[in-house]
Amino acid sequence: MWLTHATVFVLMMCTVYAARDTANVKNSASKEFLHQLLEGMDTRIRPPSKDNGPVVVSVNFHVISFSSINEINMDFKTDIFFRESWTDPRLVYTEGPPSINLPSRFVDQIWTPDLYFPNEKEAKFHDVTMPNRLLKLFPNGTVIYSIRLTLTLSCPMELVSFPLDTQTCGIKIESYAYETHELQLVWRDPSVEIDDELELPQFELVQIQNVTCQKQYKTTGRFPCLKATFMLNRHFGFFLLQTYIPSALIIILSWVSFWINMDAVAARISLVSYPKAIDIWMSMGMLFVFAALLEYAFVNALSRKHAKEEHYKKTDNPQDVTEPNDHNNKQTGADFAENLQHKTTNKVNYREFARNLDKISRYLFPSIFLIFNVIYWPIYASNRV
Ligand SMILES: *[C@@H]1O[C@H](CO)[C@@H](O)[C@H](O)[C@H]1NC(C)=O
Ligand SMILES: *[C@@H]1O[C@H](CO)[C@@H](O)[C@H](O)[C@H]1NC(C)=O
Repeated sequence: MWLTHATVFVLMMCTVYAARDTANVKNSASKEFLHQLLEGMDTRIRPPSKDNGPVVVSVNFHVISFSSINEINMDFKTDIFFRESWTDPRLVYTEGPPSINLPSRFVDQIWTPDLYFPNEKEAKFHDVTMPNRLLKLFPNGTVIYSIRLTLTLSCPMELVSFPLDTQTCGIKIESYAYETHELQLVWRDPSVEIDDELELPQFELVQIQNVTCQKQYKTTGRFPCLKATFMLNRHFGFFLLQTYIPSALIIILSWVSFWINMDAVAARISLVSYPKAIDIWMSMGMLFVFAALLEYAFVNALSRKHAKEEHYKKTDNPQDVTEPNDHNNKQTGADFAENLQHKTTNKVNYREFARNLDKISRYLFPSIFLIFNVIYWPIYASNRV
């Protein structure tokens, strides 16, 4: 009985020790594993490849937000997950997990491509709550490295057809030090992912293009480069409501002057000049209003001339006050009647001319405005994609 108890105790102790030993061995094995994997790795030297060819780095990004498209600074802001992937044969392992997620600080212990954004003005890493980075190793030596970045990128904009414009803004990625024979940049499929929740307040994203480029510098050599471009159509609705419709109404309003009495008072005018699409529209609008008022002033001047002649007539012929248009005036002598007849005809001509001018304008102005629209809209709308 005692013996049995002793045996059981000894066996139990053995099991406990054995289990503890196994755990220690496992722990030290994974420690050893990472240590061995990363030890002796010269992070300064790029991954070796067949025939000393270039190391292939595939790149893609996920656009989280796209904002602050700024016409004054000619730039825009974007928040992206920037992902790079390459294979380093020095990181190949045979026994171990199917993939290892390493804390981002390990990035210093492996080789990484020296990519940068040539059109960057400002960039920011995100560190809350921990650095927003991902570093993943695969048994075949493939490394995936992803970082979250907020970039302010320059984007030269052509504003000639503003606000009916299409802007092309891009993200350029280039290797800073590795030339094309040392490092090859390729797009990973899909090259650009757009977040489902992406919102662009002023624009509509109409097209994304991915291109491979090479940059040749005279002093340093030829460097690999990739470029993703975004074609953005400006939302026109806002400008239609804010500017085009009100100014069109003003133009139409100015034509009312052709229908109203010649002696009414004129409105005021101002002129704008700035050769964007919207400015051409505004200038034409002002021009229309100006021409309409000019026409009105002319007609008004003619009617005043008419009034002046009436005054002459009154002084010449004090008896005939009530009926200045009466051609069959019998109260005067033959010579005077002839003279009066001549003056009356002249006066009628002025008035007729003014009236006709108004009549022509009633149709001419709207027609010219219509023609202007027929030319204006296709020209600027054709600039859009
Ligand atoms: C390495 O393995 C990963 C995961 O299985 C795979 O996605 C990747 O394409 C492999 N890389 C190469 C170069 O075969
Ligand atoms: C590049 O863009 C084209 C469409 O313009 C697309 O078909 C192709 O898959 C893209 N390439 C990559 C590597 O994503």
